[in-house]
Amino acid sequence: MSRDGAGHEDPDGAALKAATAVGVTVAQRHLLLCCDQHKHKCAAPEKMQESWAYLKRRLRELGLSEAGGVLRTKVECLRVCVDGPIAVVYPDGAWYRRCSPEVLESIIRTHLLGGEPDHEHLFLLRPLAPPEAPPE
Ligand code: FES
Repeated sequence: MSRDGAGHEDPDGAALKAATAVGVTVAQRHLLLCCDQHKHKCAAPEKMQESWAYLKRRLRELGLSEAGGVLRTKVECLRVCVDGPIAVVYPDGAWYRRCSPEVLESIIRTHLLGGEPDHEHLFLLRPLAPPEAPPE
C-alpha cells in the first residue's frame, strides 16, 4: 500500500502519478484562465478559446509546461465577469484582465519567465493571506 504526498492511502498511486505528470510536484506558479463556454460573460467564447489555445501552445514552446514549473488550468468562471478573459496567477495573487494572446504573451514574459507581475495588465495584486494563528 503506497501513500500520497499528504500521507493518505493511494493504493495504485494513480492520482500522484497523474499529478506528477502534469507538473504539480514541481510547480512554482499556477495560471487559471476564464474560458466559460456556457455563460461567457467576461468575453466572447471565441476570444476565450483563442486565448486558451495560445496559452497552452506558448507554455509548451517555452518549456514552462509540466516539468517547467507553470501549471495552467482552464476554468468556467473566476467570478469577475467583466473585461475578460480574466486570469489569475498564484501564489502571487496577480489578477489580469483582457487576456488576449498579446496580453498573455506579456504576462508569460514578464511574470512567468521574469518573476514579476506584469503591471501593465494587472488590475489587482492580492496574494492570499496566511491563516491567522488560533487564539491561545
Ligand atoms: S465569465 Fe469570465 S470571470 Fe466570469
